[in-house]
Amino acid sequence: MTAKAVRPVVSLENATKTYGGIAALAEANFELYPGEIHALVGENGAGKSTLCKLIAGVIAPSDGLLRVDGETVTFLAPKDASARGISMVYQETSLVPQLTVAQNIVLGRERAFNSVRKVRNAARQVLQRLNFKVDPSQLAGSLSAAKRQMVEIARSVLNEARVIILDEPTAALTPEETDHLFDLMKSLQRSGVAMIFISHALEEALSHADRISVLRNGRMMVTGPATDFDRSSLIRHMIGEDLNERGPAPAAAGAARSVVPVLRVENIRMGSIVNNMSFSIFPGEVTGIAGLIGSGRSEVAKVIMGHTKRNFGGGRIWLDGREVRYAIPAEAVADGIAYVSEDRKLDGFFDTLSVTENVGLGWLAKFGRRTLLAPFGRMHQVAREWEQRLSIRGIAANQPVLHLSGGNQQKVVIAKSLVQQPRLVIFDEPTRGVDVGAIAEIRQIIRSIAESGAGVILISSYLPEILDLSDRILVAKSGTIAAEFSRAEATAEKILHAAVH
Ligand SMILES: Nc1ncnc2c1ncn2[C@@H]1O[C@H](COP(=O)(O)OP(=O)(O)OP(=O)(O)O)[C@@H](O)[C@H]1O
Ligand SMILES: [Mg+2]
Repeated sequence: MTAKAVRPVVSLENATKTYGGIAALAEANFELYPGEIHALVGENGAGKSTLCKLIAGVIAPSDGLLRVDGETVTFLAPKDASARGISMVYQETSLVPQLTVAQNIVLGRERAFNSVRKVRNAARQVLQRLNFKVDPSQLAGSLSAAKRQMVEIARSVLNEARVIILDEPTAALTPEETDHLFDLMKSLQRSGVAMIFISHALEEALSHADRISVLRNGRMMVTGPATDFDRSSLIRHMIGEDLNERGPAPAAAGAARSVVPVLRVENIRMGSIVNNMSFSIFPGEVTGIAGLIGSGRSEVAKVIMGHTKRNFGGGRIWLDGREVRYAIPAEAVADGIAYVSEDRKLDGFFDTLSVTENVGLGWLAKFGRRTLLAPFGRMHQVAREWEQRLSIRGIAANQPVLHLSGGNQQKVVIAKSLVQQPRLVIFDEPTRGVDVGAIAEIRQIIRSIAESGAGVILISSYLPEILDLSDRILVAKSGTIAAEFSRAEATAEKILHAAVH
């Protein structure tokens, strides 16, 4: 593509965005050409979402210029950007959960479709055109992450967006869904749509983008054709040095297994999703649970934690040989079970409190009803240790978690759970949205929790992560455990085969 021959559809010139006098984005220059797929990469907190929100009219620059088709513009709200054909699919979904898919798709343009039938038809047409299998009359709140994203993309396409910004679109998708998304992006590209996508999976940027821009600490480090980069050069631009990416040492093969499982579940049932699921988790081991979305792997974790009382259909659970049944997650936490979930907004943290307060509260939780006996003086110290360990950073000290970048929020959820020194940790997609440096650290931590004698359940869609870290791998399918592999037996092919057939 000879991008340089044409005028950029969008450009930023010396764009700066400060919060309380500190720059989240500093004097950034950026150009996006028609029909270009442009990847934006950088560590957690580097300023990627900030740059995109400036272009989408979500926030206004503190300094610098935004141009659309060469003309300087001032956006006061996202609707101003969308009037110029710019639309953004957010890191956290922006759909209205109480409205149907169709209503969400036409949201803001209802007047053009003056009947329920017209709304539904317009939505159905655009969904069909994109080959998205989503029911227009379903409520948005009941959709999976992948489908919510499809609806947001459909909305952009219906609005005839010329620029679509996707903030970590693949973080919540399965590999198949990711392939589908990139196919779709290529077809939008052929019709002239320009796209920016943010991803922590550097391979996605390298293989699907025309150009890549790297941000570090709010500064634009480099922009160039994807073919000019490889994984290690991207990392060097991102963090300013090489990263030791060697995985943690694998578990000692055939280490003697303790006979009493830390957790045993038998015939767990939940709605139509979990169907007589049974397994045991042993102390000192990482047990990976692989499986497709909808296989019941995340839902069984929610049942164990007491998260889904309503649909609980029966089954028995033992912790350290004692039968338990939790009505609310707090009871499970008090018993030493930590749950690092894939949906940080749901149950992750108190968003108006600082990192220290959140981690500190997590630490207090382990005292259960004896909170008043907790040595409060230690609280801040412990919280600070975890902040450093996971390098949790905002642009200023004591920022409320709400104002942290997406990846830093995920690290808060992790620290808050681990500070409780649990007997059993359930990780559900722990590295989603987290940058390469922190992924390495989180993986080390997962191994070290097991080595310290606790039990670990690792639920992940990312097979290399499961293969790297697990001593034993269970494969969930249609709500039951379809196969079990030891570390030595497991291969990606065998797991995929068991998950599908
Ligand atoms: N409303 C706000 N108030 C104060 N600081 C903010 C606000 N929004 C963002 N920041 C800060 O700006 C910096 C950049 O955030 P941004 O969300 O752009 O990062 P990012 O590159 O998207 O990171 P991630 O990969 O974790 O999503 C962060 O340090 C964040 O704490
Ligand atoms: Mg972000």
